[in-house]
Amino acid sequence: MKKHVFVASISLLFIACTKQKAKITPKNVDTSINYAVHIKPIVDSFCMQCHKAGSFYFKKPLNAKEWAISAKDGSLNDRVFVKKDMPPLNAPKLGETDLETLKNWINTGAK
Ligand code: HEC
Repeated sequence: MKKHVFVASISLLFIACTKQKAKITPKNVDTSINYAVHIKPIVDSFCMQCHKAGSFYFKKPLNAKEWAISAKDGSLNDRVFVKKDMPPLNAPKLGETDLETLKNWINTGAK
């Protein structure tokens, strides 16, 4: 009998702890998104086949600095999240996680 009570209270304690963790406050929102670590792998896979120098979209290739400018001037947000025409047509689309990372990068100042 004592054992059951013990197991029950341990379980309750565990549930209480996990509930605590799930609470999201502005303090633990990740603001450390940066180009080299988080964004480069995404644009390398989904965007650079067209946006690098020498690709068929040679008129305006976008390098690290220019991606940051496009994030700050709103064009990145406009094309990926509003018009949703980048990546275009049949090019592979970004997954939910990548979209979220890109959005967070824009929202946290595109560093
Ligand atoms: C299949 C080729 C292709 C792929 C893949 C592609 N783009 Fe583009 N992108 C273009 C072309 C061509 C243009 C210029 C014509 C236009 O604005 O529609 C362009 C324009 C843009 C512009 C506007 C640039 C400016 O100076 O106004 C942004 C921002 C952009 N793309 C973002 C992206 C992002 C972000 C990705 C990846 C998630 C991506 N593109 C993937 C071909 C592509």
